[in-house]
Amino acid sequence: MSYLLSPSLLAADFGNLERDIKLINKSEADWLHLDIMDGVFVPNLSFGIPVLEHIAKISTKPLDVHLMIVEPDKYISKLSKMGVYMYNVHYEACTHLHRVVQKIKSAGMKAAVTINPATSVFLLEDILEDLDMVLLMSVNPGYGGQKFIPNVLNKTAQLKEMILRKQLNTLIQVDGGVNDKTAKQLLDHGADVLVAGSYIFDADDPSTVISQLKSL
Ligand code: DX5
Ligand code: ZN
Repeated sequence: MSYLLSPSLLAADFGNLERDIKLINKSEADWLHLDIMDGVFVPNLSFGIPVLEHIAKISTKPLDVHLMIVEPDKYISKLSKMGVYMYNVHYEACTHLHRVVQKIKSAGMKAAVTINPATSVFLLEDILEDLDMVLLMSVNPGYGGQKFIPNVLNKTAQLKEMILRKQLNTLIQVDGGVNDKTAKQLLDHGADVLVAGSYIFDADDPSTVISQLKSL
């Protein structure tokens, strides 16, 4: 089934980031997923702007940036200058979501909104037509390597139905606990973009796992 695969660098070897980014460059992956955590919106820290700047110089894949931070509109201009492709903010972190989405698009990036496992897809009814992508979390954000929450399959189907009813092209991305089995289920329910971290980088040969996932 044709879909986009966005490996999450969070599960890479941070002592060998350049090696792992180049591995993704050479692989069949479509995008590179970058998880930014602030220790406030989520109970963990990952990496910030200076590291992102280096990643942007090395990666040849479109950068898919998932901001798990409060006030996620603060970095729109900086990330657009780095050439970020997808600027993704959490629904739960934005009081004025419509304004944030317009700012992202005015800066020349694609706009995506993420919802946590307990947030209903129906809350996106009035913003959906402005979005290039919706990310459905299949784990609670903050850590890699967590167990897939199967209710995301119903949410994927519900969101797909909304997108088709409104005749939109919005992509559905799913992130958390993705492996060969959950990937297949997600694609069957209508997902368009899958993020996978530990399933790819914990493997002995990440490039082969990427090829296997792409040929599901
Ligand atoms: C979790 C992050 C994910 C994470 C996925 O907060 O948003 O992108 O890296 O990791 P796995 O694929 O190991 O669940
Ligand atoms: Zn993520």
